[in-house]
Amino acid sequence: MRIAVVGTGYVGLVTGTCFAESGNTVTCIDIDAEKVKKLSKGEITIYEPGLEKIFLRNLREERLKFTSELDSGIKDSLLIILALPTPPGEDGSADLSAILKVADNLGKIINEYRVIIDKSTVPVGTAEKVRATIAANFKSEFDVVSNPEFLREGFAVEDFMKPDRVIVGTSSQRARKIISELYAPFMRQDNRIIFMDERSAELTKYAANSFLATKISFMNEIAILCEKFGADVDLIRRGLGSDERIGKRFLFPGIGFGGSCFPKDVKALVKSAKEVNYEFKILQAVMEVNEKQKLSLVPRMKKYFKNDLKGKRIAVWGLAFKPNTDDIREASSIFIIRELINEGSEIAAFDPEAMSNTKKELGNKIEFAGQYDVIKDCDALVIATEWNEFRTPDFDKMSSLMKKKVIFDGRNVYEPQKMSELGFYYESIGRKTVSS
Ligand SMILES: NC(=O)c1ccc[n+]([C@@H]2O[C@H](COP(=O)([O-])OP(=O)(O)OC[C@H]3O[C@@H](n4cnc5c(N)ncnc54)[C@H](O)[C@@H]3O)[C@@H](O)[C@H]2O)c1
Repeated sequence: MRIAVVGTGYVGLVTGTCFAESGNTVTCIDIDAEKVKKLSKGEITIYEPGLEKIFLRNLREERLKFTSELDSGIKDSLLIILALPTPPGEDGSADLSAILKVADNLGKIINEYRVIIDKSTVPVGTAEKVRATIAANFKSEFDVVSNPEFLREGFAVEDFMKPDRVIVGTSSQRARKIISELYAPFMRQDNRIIFMDERSAELTKYAANSFLATKISFMNEIAILCEKFGADVDLIRRGLGSDERIGKRFLFPGIGFGGSCFPKDVKALVKSAKEVNYEFKILQAVMEVNEKQKLSLVPRMKKYFKNDLKGKRIAVWGLAFKPNTDDIREASSIFIIRELINEGSEIAAFDPEAMSNTKKELGNKIEFAGQYDVIKDCDALVIATEWNEFRTPDFDKMSSLMKKKVIFDGRNVYEPQKMSELGFYYESIGRKTVSS
């Protein structure tokens, strides 16, 4: 099939590459001309495990192309996939301007039957808006399908190739047949496509992300109680997760959820609910808990340093909003660093993949260096992302480099007992604070 993907960010690039990998001819379109130039030359623009290899192969075999021109980019493509940003507007609602602008242009360009597939996360009723926008200029048959994307950054290729399910919202039999063919290569073991109406598909995506965010905020509140009661959140997590009705995943407490999806999607669902006169109380609480949790290490650090963080040299391990990505959007690390800078601390940070994005965000307000260079002479180390390389570090080397053996661990990477034996002062989330 010939496919156009409009928007070549995390979702668009993975979508385009994976559909090319299953034999389709794909043109990815992006307004960012610099990005298009890099991708066309074989320079990958995001870090995503396993992506570069198939990106390069499909580029070489000319199944994958990049352009910044919508007109030529969608030519001959039966399927036009929208993977455009839907950032939160000032009131928290999803900003649909990129999607509606592209829809308006598409209405002026297309001249025969096309299936427009919306992969962006969008509020209920967007498929109808996109349809009306295109129909204002194009008077023949076309279909708009809601096909929300569930891939996780860090596992995006695997998630795309082996999805738990593919949600397809359409009332058109013609579009349904085409989409079934499109996903057939990924459904060989069993067909996991769930067809539904457009509105239900749009809401499924928000419900899924909001539910996962709720699990995280719930565990973060349990962790707070653990510290107050002297209980251990790790044991509780195991006790809870072994109940199949609850499940083991998404029960890890920490310094809150970030990323480009959970915070914005929870906000957008609360806003959508308001528009139909419903106050979504659980999700309001989920957001409140998360905002507090993101900064929760700072008061702990203030307490430890007797309200004087000025001039303290703080090392930060982990900048990405989660491991295996270079994405720092809404990352807890950035919130913490800004707050520590306000307190007068000096920050040196390391992340295996996200330093270049962080440099763009924070400029020269902080230092960047290697994993062990940043802890040299530091007064404390903050762990903000649970990258694998932080799990079994050289503790002897750490002990000799750090000015003070103090760790504030926002991701519960180490065992408190072991840290005590190694002579560290160690605070984590929902567990006993230890010192030697
Ligand atoms: N990132 C994720 O993990 C993830 C997962 C599932 C769903 N989503 C949803 O998918 C959508 C896209 O997210 P993303 O993370 O890929 O965003 P992104 O910001 O990484 O990428 C969006 C791309 O669209 C381009 N763009 C903007 N306006 C354009 C226009 N008018 N024409 C062509 N290109 C344009 C931008 O230059 C950018 O490259 C969002 O709605 C998001 O909520 C994201």
